[in-house]
Amino acid sequence: MNIFLFVFYAHIPFVKSNDTLINVQAIWRHGVRDFYYCNWGCNSKNKPNGDAQILTPAGMRQQYVLGKWIRQRYIIDNQLLSSFFNENEIYIESTDYNRTIMSAYCNLQGMYPQGFEIPNVTEDKLLPPNPGSKSPNIGNYALPYKISLIPIHTKQEEQDYALAIYCKITDSIVESNRKTELYNKINSATQTQELFKRFNSELGLIEEKQVNDIIELAEWRDTFTCNRYNGDNLPQKLSAKTLFYMDQIALLSFSLRQFQNWEQSKLYSTPYLKQVIENFDNFINGNSRVKYRGSSSHDSTMLGIISGLNLTSAQCQADIYLNKSQSDIFCLTENIEFSSNLIFELYNNTENGLYVRILYNGKYVPICSQKGTYCQYDRFKSLVSQQFIDYEKECNLIQEVQREVVYNIPIWSILFFLLVLLCTCGVFILIFMIKQMKDPASSDSDISK
Ligand SMILES: *[C@@H]1O[C@H](CO)[C@@H](O)[C@H](O)[C@H]1NC(C)=O
Ligand SMILES: *[C@@H]1O[C@H](CO)[C@@H](O)[C@H](O)[C@H]1NC(C)=O
Ligand SMILES: *[C@@H]1O[C@H](CO)[C@@H](O)[C@H](O)[C@H]1NC(C)=O
Ligand SMILES: *[C@@H]1O[C@H](CO)[C@@H](O)[C@H](O)[C@H]1NC(C)=O
Ligand SMILES: *[C@@H]1O[C@H](CO)[C@@H](O)[C@H](O)[C@H]1NC(C)=O
Ligand SMILES: *[C@@H]1O[C@H](CO)[C@@H](O)[C@H](O)[C@H]1NC(C)=O
Repeated sequence: MNIFLFVFYAHIPFVKSNDTLINVQAIWRHGVRDFYYCNWGCNSKNKPNGDAQILTPAGMRQQYVLGKWIRQRYIIDNQLLSSFFNENEIYIESTDYNRTIMSAYCNLQGMYPQGFEIPNVTEDKLLPPNPGSKSPNIGNYALPYKISLIPIHTKQEEQDYALAIYCKITDSIVESNRKTELYNKINSATQTQELFKRFNSELGLIEEKQVNDIIELAEWRDTFTCNRYNGDNLPQKLSAKTLFYMDQIALLSFSLRQFQNWEQSKLYSTPYLKQVIENFDNFINGNSRVKYRGSSSHDSTMLGIISGLNLTSAQCQADIYLNKSQSDIFCLTENIEFSSNLIFELYNNTENGLYVRILYNGKYVPICSQKGTYCQYDRFKSLVSQQFIDYEKECNLIQEVQREVVYNIPIWSILFFLLVLLCTCGVFILIFMIKQMKDPASSDSDISK
């Protein structure tokens, strides 16, 4: 990360007087999970099963602490939200993955640690109708340990554009991104080749097992990162230096993989940013009372949004990596680690009206491509709206429905039509033949004419 710039931007005072925080939308990456790629310390017994990687206890703790941070800021310091859960004020959503749903629950425990109290009613009202049901010994709290359970909304992955960036062309984007000049330049740079060499030698990888691609190297790093957070072992000979350089290149390789150019950044940031604008608008127009929206999601979703907000790009990271002349543009280079978060705050100022600020991992970042960390809401809305892309069209999500309608039904009807035609012809031929057999004389006489 460009530390100098970060300090400079973070220096701007917190909240000006007469400014009222009125709405907040937060999106986070789930907490640390089990390892995902089967590359090190992986055997048939612990082989990851598709996308089933569950949140680990370390990941639960991360999210619980993030929830406490959010509570401190928006419930205690700012008093945007009531201190007890109020279903009219908050809306929590998650992608349909175990690790993101679990992250949202843990986060909410940190946000609302007080639990619900039972009303003063007779004992029988507090039991299910089953015979033998007994009263638990937990005092006035509805649940043990003051647990508060808050609804978490989720969508089927195929319909989840904003949080899961479901898109049918992602595979082909990744495939073509691996063939670009920029990709080759980074992959074949001297320091990258040296890193591969060191990595292969430290891990004793030989022949076709050798790693010589930064995306593959990032997959190994993912495993080591999980191990570091979960207290599991790392390869004995893997040096701190090698790990350090792997960390340095992690975000760059992810950007090169899926968010390599401005078109791709616009595409993947469209659904969530559209949702941000819709929610702010609904609140401003009085169509919604929800003051806080929390979204539990993934690093890919977050990198798409961060790229769409001009907080990073493959190009700016590549320039930094290759020691090219640095302009003063803001450019995040650190990987989006577990529980990283992006928060959009909407303020109302008595004189200047509505404006937006964005926090990344708890620090304000530049907004609207300016040096400052404030942006008038109208300007923010117009800037991001201008870069929206027809997501369903670009991602081949409408065509599928059309294909079903246009092609599937005709195949049915054509078959049915042919069958009817065949039967009709058969019947006519049969009638003709029968007629001929019954009336040979008439046909003879016809011919004789
Ligand atoms: C807040 O705004 C009001 C009027 O808009 C003004 O009179 C007051 O001085 C302001 N307070 C601060 C702390 O700036
Ligand atoms: C979620 O967990 C279940 C087991 O509880 C597993 O079968 C499934 O594959 C997991 N799915 C995802 C998307 O994480
Ligand atoms: C609960 O209700 C009962 C009966 O109405 C009453 O006697 C008692 O004081 C109430 N307890 C509390 C804590 O309000
Ligand atoms: C970039 O600079 C750093 C030190 O400032 C050096 O270690 C590295 O090798 C340089 N990379 C290139 C590609 O010149
Ligand atoms: C913003 O504050 C002004 C008064 O300063 C008020 O009239 C307006 O309704 C507020 N807007 C929102 C969306 O809260
Ligand atoms: C990001 O940068 C592009 C190109 O420089 C610009 O057109 C766009 O408005 C910027 N978007 C935001 C949200 O700052």
